Amino acid sequence: MATMSPIMNVMIKAAEKAGRNLARDFGEVENLQVSRKGPANFVTAADKRAEEIIFEELKNARPSYSFLMEESGAIKGEDPDYLWIIDPLDGTHNFMHGIPHWCVSIGLEVKGRMEAGVVYDPIKDELFRAERSGGAFMRNKRMRVSSRDNFETAFVGFGSAMDAKEFDQYAAELIKISHIAPNLRRFGAAALDLAYIAAGRLDGYWERGLHPWDVAAGALILKEAGGFVSSIDIEENPVYSRNLVAGNNSVHQDLKKALKSIKA
Ligand code: IPD
Repeated sequence: MATMSPIMNVMIKAAEKAGRNLARDFGEVENLQVSRKGPANFVTAADKRAEEIIFEELKNARPSYSFLMEESGAIKGEDPDYLWIIDPLDGTHNFMHGIPHWCVSIGLEVKGRMEAGVVYDPIKDELFRAERSGGAFMRNKRMRVSSRDNFETAFVGFGSAMDAKEFDQYAAELIKISHIAPNLRRFGAAALDLAYIAAGRLDGYWERGLHPWDVAAGALILKEAGGFVSSIDIEENPVYSRNLVAGNNSVHQDLKKALKSIKA
């Protein structure tokens, strides 16, 4: 079992507290499916509550750090070098539809580099975590990416375009990639897609139009599990690149090469 730093303990406590609340709310979502308005407002409120819980926990533990959060945006602390990057509920649409595949994602960036990350799936009680240079763990068990190096049989996750501007590019990519690697999966929670590669469940993943809070924690966890994550088109910090390709070494390379050759 790896030693856990005080900051990791703080992050886990915040993720679990928010996760427990969300899990309770998730129980209610099923009842709301049948109402005509559906559960959308309820889910937005649950999402915001979870963010408040995380904010409070982290602010109490490290009052000077800054925040970048999906719901509340950027909040500058006294110390701009330390930045929490938070998605209180990644996989919102799954949550809203009563599909038990969503998570809490908390990353800590220090001077522009990811330092620690936690991705927590409260329904399955699976906690993925990593600190820079400390390896990646599912709770206390070391994780490694898969060693599957055959792109044709690889399990590859993807996210599909919500933005009409990107439909054509997505369609072209889906057609081309599914000809090469037909075992595609669309799970609907980017942070879990990255954590699943770290756990050796998926071999690769790509998506366009992501936000830093979808990616920050999962990207570090994946790297610490021996995986690779990069921007599809240009070399830049993948957390901020929006367009992401990830995988074990071999599938990351093959997938990136294939994607770069596709133009709608
Ligand atoms: C979304 C999920 C989804 C991905 C979207 C994200 P949210 O995050 O990660 O899998 O396809 O691009 O925006 O909105 O549920 O936090």
